[in-house]
Amino acid sequence: MNESIHKSVLSQEVLEYLNLKPGMQIIDATLNGAGHTRMILEHIGPDGQVLGIEWDKDLAAKASAELAEFGNRVIVVNDSYVNMAIIAKEHNIHPDGILFDLGLSSWHYEQSGRGFSFKRDEPLDMRFNTETSLTAAQIVNTCSEDELVALIRDYGEEQFAKQIASAITEARREAPITTTARLVQIIEGAVPVWYTHRRIHCATKTFQALRVMVNDELGNVEKGVRAAIDLLKPGGRVVVISFQGHEDKLVRELFKKYKAEGIIKMPKSGTIRPKWSEQEENRRSRSAKMKVAEKI
Ligand SMILES: C[S@@+](CC[C@H](N)C(=O)[O-])C[C@H]1O[C@@H](n2cnc3c(N)ncnc32)[C@H](O)[C@@H]1O
Repeated sequence: MNESIHKSVLSQEVLEYLNLKPGMQIIDATLNGAGHTRMILEHIGPDGQVLGIEWDKDLAAKASAELAEFGNRVIVVNDSYVNMAIIAKEHNIHPDGILFDLGLSSWHYEQSGRGFSFKRDEPLDMRFNTETSLTAAQIVNTCSEDELVALIRDYGEEQFAKQIASAITEARREAPITTTARLVQIIEGAVPVWYTHRRIHCATKTFQALRVMVNDELGNVEKGVRAAIDLLKPGGRVVVISFQGHEDKLVRELFKKYKAEGIIKMPKSGTIRPKWSEQEENRRSRSAKMKVAEKI
């Protein structure tokens, strides 16, 4: 894959807070184009290993081909990170560090053809893993109006959730909503005109809400971070980068709970944010928030 398409965020901070040393075993739970993994491999050489997990079949295949030069220092598995305990066992990996870089890749927006972007007219799919059953089209065409309001409000933090849900249920009476372009048109017709002239596109939050539900993102983050803390060696670190408020809150609460139970400590309390120079260079990094915990 073209590596320039997805710029890894907070790279220096990831390397620093994973506290990398030669010979370590690291899990990259969200491999994508392996931007972070390549850097990690350089810091744990000559023998250290990375187990890279990627839920998207196309991205896993691309990463696997791209990382061939590292031989058995990299294992790529196409699966969800929620299954990392079994995957690590199968490959005899006892991790000294685990990285989660949540959300989706620029490749999903630009090239997947699965309707992640409101800027393109594509089928309304939004699945990271096309073997799972729920698509965005199924949600907009089958959820009740109340369910749509709750989804768009809670996962998208959209102030016009009620108006958008009502417009969706009205529009689908004419014909099922199957494309991103039709959904964008419905949203634009549902919100006040001033809301369509803002810097953030009026469909952004609804699209985010649908993606979060299609991929059960919050459920996965909770299961994944719990699995990671269980699996880490004592002294090992978990680093989580999130891009959405509700994910960041979930991670904060999980860390707080594990800390109170004496299972982890915080080598750096609070949130680590990208430097201004990175934010200027990579727009996507502006919403990135990183948290670190160390297993006791
Ligand atoms: C922000 S990207 C990671 C970028 C990567 N760190 C890099 O430097 O290129 C997030 C990736 O996580 C993958 N992903 C999302 N949910 C997942 C899950 N439950 N298990 C494994 N991978 C997942 C997405 O398909 C996407 O490729």
